[in-house]
Amino acid sequence: MCGIVGYVGNKENCVRVLIDGLEKLEYRGYDSAGIAFLNNDNIDVVKEKGKIVNLKSKIDLNINSNLGIGHTRWATHGNATKENAHPHKVGAITVVHNGIVENYNELKKDLINKGYVFNSETDTEVVAALIDYIYKKEKDMLKTIQKVKELLTGSYALGIICDDNLDTLYTLKNKSPLIIGVNENENYIASDVPAILDKTRNYIVLEDKDYASIKSDGVKIYHDGKEKDFEVKEFLYDANSVDKQGYEHFMLKEMNEQPEVFKNTTTPYLKNGIDSLIEKMPDFTKYERIRIVACGSATHAGLVGKCMIEKYANVEVMVETASEFRYKKQFLKNDELVIVVSQSGETADTLEALLIAKQNGNDTLGIVNAKGSTIARESKMVLYTEAGQEIAVATTKAYSAQVALLSLIALNLSCKKNLIDKKEMLDILRDVKKLPDYIEELLNRRDEYKKIAEEIKDYNDVFFIGRGVDYALAQEGSLKLKEISYTHSEAYAAGELKHGTISLIEDKTPVIAVITDDDIALKTISNVKEVKSRGANVICITNKNLSNDSNLYDKKIVIPKVNDLFEPLLTVIPLQMIAYELAKLKECSIDKPRNLAKSVTVE
Ligand code: F6R
Repeated sequence: MCGIVGYVGNKENCVRVLIDGLEKLEYRGYDSAGIAFLNNDNIDVVKEKGKIVNLKSKIDLNINSNLGIGHTRWATHGNATKENAHPHKVGAITVVHNGIVENYNELKKDLINKGYVFNSETDTEVVAALIDYIYKKEKDMLKTIQKVKELLTGSYALGIICDDNLDTLYTLKNKSPLIIGVNENENYIASDVPAILDKTRNYIVLEDKDYASIKSDGVKIYHDGKEKDFEVKEFLYDANSVDKQGYEHFMLKEMNEQPEVFKNTTTPYLKNGIDSLIEKMPDFTKYERIRIVACGSATHAGLVGKCMIEKYANVEVMVETASEFRYKKQFLKNDELVIVVSQSGETADTLEALLIAKQNGNDTLGIVNAKGSTIARESKMVLYTEAGQEIAVATTKAYSAQVALLSLIALNLSCKKNLIDKKEMLDILRDVKKLPDYIEELLNRRDEYKKIAEEIKDYNDVFFIGRGVDYALAQEGSLKLKEISYTHSEAYAAGELKHGTISLIEDKTPVIAVITDDDIALKTISNVKEVKSRGANVICITNKNLSNDSNLYDKKIVIPKVNDLFEPLLTVIPLQMIAYELAKLKECSIDKPRNLAKSVTVE
């Protein structure tokens, strides 16, 4: 949540760097935004409610400045107002912050007693006051930050400017992501590399409780009062990934990248058939069961993974929501592998679940998209999804890559345990080659999705039903629809409807039925008949040759039949596209849905 960018240097116009960076980070928060920059020996602060364009209209982009910090906010403490927007300046100190300071109330009371007056409801203004208070005594920013670090609890990535050191940018971080971008005669800070990608590809990842002083000609990183060594990494993603490349939305672009993402994710494991599949993955056969923990769509990917691992590898899999898992009795067994799934690799609840599993002594595997992210670093084993940078808040290509990788784990285990016969393996390898074309063909059927969007646009509720893996996919379809089109929807295990929910079905209520799983399709079809006979407008997404019976459904989208292992990668395409077309029809903010942020770094 929230995006931070900062600049110190002599090469670029700082104000432009800040605004450009914030525009690239806007996917992290867009309630309000602000910048603070050096202007003729003073720090000027400009902030505005709403998106970055509102802020941009208030700023002269030609001001000559070589030091500054900027912030795009996803509100946690206090409403999305101009007063609560960052940066916050108190005395000599100006701060931008991503995270939640949990003990800010106590600190605030203490600082009020010391004479500080607060103008916002934020925890960030309290941090600025605290730094100012300690700095007045210490008169040394590094000693001050070292002390402040001991007083703060919670998560924070901070960009700090001190009026007395106007050639230096300071940072401090704990549990919220922060990188330092390095270049000749200039350096940057940012929540994420895309903010500075057109300036430099070289960056340093800060560890928790690290702090740094950054000048135009050098970076010094400290931990516990001592300077420490650091590694400069190179960002390897394609810079085009942060550009829409002619597509109307990032989401549309990212959905259209799915054929390529499937190839990139599967090829390393399948290029030499079983040999590479065995060689490239850790040995999972020693685990008696697997626990998958994640949030949102990543949990839905986990549910598909569960179906595949249980079916192909005969290993029990439990899937849990990280925000629930972390606060309950976990009952982790010694012989259990904990898999955490995360696109950003920074989701606070997922990270905490991972740390709990580690503390318990379990082996952990991170399925992560963002290279070098906290979850990737903290996991004992990592398998990267090769989805590239994902910008749209609603995940599409990263979800598909997660599903593909979990299916590969199922196949790996199945091969190692000799549970798959040669013929089925050959079928799978044949399908893997065809899948990118099939995905592309499904993506191109926009007219079909538009018609469905037209039909459901005037309804307040949409139901998704399915059984087995189709239920897992229904849950993802429902989440996509509600988050970007703001149409209420629920996903139900098809057999559960008659235990309550079917009372909501009225004349023309849209019901999207997912019917692909051979083992259970007939049962879902009878549930479809139940809703159809109560007036529902049924849209089937199926790989079955359903008879043209108008008593069964109103519309169908037929997807190609492939081996079950990778079928979900086809089924999900119409689900994503229907959500997209509906959101477009309703003129919603598709890439940045209201109230949401891409990287959920608070619990
Ligand atoms: C929905 C969506 C979210 C994320 C969830 C986990 O479209 O994108 O539900 O899947 O916030 O995020 P990561 O995968 O970054 O841990």
